[in-house]
Amino acid sequence: MDIEGLSAIVTGAGSGLGLATAQALSKAGARVTLLDLDEVRVKNAAAEIGALGVGCDVINSSAVEAALDLAEDRSGPIRIVVNCAGIPGGMRLVGRDGPVDMEAFARVINVNLMGTVSVMTKCAARMMQQEPLNQDGERGIIINTGSITSIEGQIGQGAYVASKGAIASLTLQAAREFMPRGVRVMTIAPGLFRTPIADHIPQEVIDGMLDGRMFPNRFGEPAEFGRLAVNIIQNPMLNGETIRLDAGVRLQAG
Ligand SMILES: NC(=O)c1ccc[n+]([C@@H]2O[C@H](COP(=O)([O-])OP(=O)(O)OC[C@H]3O[C@@H](n4cnc5c(N)ncnc54)[C@H](O)[C@@H]3O)[C@@H](O)[C@H]2O)c1
Repeated sequence: MDIEGLSAIVTGAGSGLGLATAQALSKAGARVTLLDLDEVRVKNAAAEIGALGVGCDVINSSAVEAALDLAEDRSGPIRIVVNCAGIPGGMRLVGRDGPVDMEAFARVINVNLMGTVSVMTKCAARMMQQEPLNQDGERGIIINTGSITSIEGQIGQGAYVASKGAIASLTLQAAREFMPRGVRVMTIAPGLFRTPIADHIPQEVIDGMLDGRMFPNRFGEPAEFGRLAVNIIQNPMLNGETIRLDAGVRLQAG
């Protein structure tokens, strides 16, 4: 898909990977709308790239629809969505105080999984109403953000891992449902990226990753995530797959 001039939504765009993706899409010529829970931050971020910033909680359906309406009024029918809104969720399934607090577990599932599903389905429904953009019949693309922890397991991250595993599982399923209407679905599963969320990763886990068994042996830069999102959008043969973006790291069990 040729990105130039297309209307794009990025959630979680006030910070980290979402912000870098919004910047990369804007540079590639998209008309980007940035969504984030933090209204002040997202408006400032959007202003820096001449884009629209909207304060929006991805688990609030009416707020999401209202934000999508604003995006379409300003930039035209939505063709690109990158879901980056997410929260960490450090909690053991059985900790010192007993079994996990189900409300805390559900909160992580709600934001990371339900928020992603909500934005994905609302945008896909809009894309399906549009005319195809090219000879392949492409109408739009949705990129969700998973995590390598959902593939490898990470002690103390049950809710987070479950939320990201469900996003990965949904990728092919959603791609198959949306295929007849020309909408692709992909997931990026990042390893370790230098963003505020990484502050929640225990130091021993970071040390275990940055131990010379990955290359390059460093944190990923958010711009490298944004670059992959742009590449995925541009390559129509990518569909229904989760791509690890992790410098080849494999997590240790402990
Ligand atoms: N940084 C990493 O190493 C890493 C690794 C694997 C996966 N991820 C995933 O990448 C995504 C982006 O994370 P990041 O590293 O940029 O973190 P980040 O904290 O910098 O950005 C996340 C953004 O999501 C927003 N957000 C949170 N809840 C929201 C809600 N309900 N509605 C709207 N916005 C909301 C936050 O305000 C924040 O701006 C997340 O889904 C995260 O799980 C990050």
